[in-house]
Amino acid sequence: MTRRLKLAVLISGRGSNLQALIDACALPDFPAVIDLVVSNEPQAAGLDRAREAGLDTAVINHRTFSSRAAFEQALDARLLDSGPDLICLAGFMRILGADFVRRWERRIINIHPSLLPALKGLDTHARALEAGLREHGCTVHYVTAELDDGPAILQAKVPVLPDDTVESLAARVLAEEHRIYPEAVRQLAEAAAVSRTTCQ
Ligand code: GRF
Repeated sequence: MTRRLKLAVLISGRGSNLQALIDACALPDFPAVIDLVVSNEPQAAGLDRAREAGLDTAVINHRTFSSRAAFEQALDARLLDSGPDLICLAGFMRILGADFVRRWERRIINIHPSLLPALKGLDTHARALEAGLREHGCTVHYVTAELDDGPAILQAKVPVLPDDTVESLAARVLAEEHRIYPEAVRQLAEAAAVSRTTCQ
């Protein structure tokens, strides 16, 4: 197999998408490997998942910095230390500033629980139900300086059923998130491998 894409995964909480990436990376033919997991929340459950998988973890608690710029500088330094090919935001609940995003342009991706450009921001499942949408889903997209606005890489649709609650809809979408996030990473890794071959 060609060189595996090196990932850094940024989390803030539960880490179920991190788990999906951990499970995918454990497959022998998966073209990526997680080198580092960073959480801004010291108590994030996802950190336990990472430790259990034997991954390097770092906590960079935004509350201990005097400004967003200082937090992002520390984050940047830790990431540079690892040198990832791709940064995967997986439930990372801090908005990243334009300078940070520009430095990692085209090398940061995110998973968002809606069919972007619909329903940017928070509480997407409740808003999908309120709006009476018949279809909902999730999007893996490049991160740009505008919130939930970068080019889409992969989307998955789910139906909104008449008796759906926020919980039942969220669970249906989450199952798709766990499927398409690793799939998007695979596609990017394969594309990177092709471009390495053609540039040699
Ligand atoms: C997911 O729904 C993801 O789309 C959103 O935040 C949630 C994180 O869940 N960005 P988890 O921490 O991956 O379980």
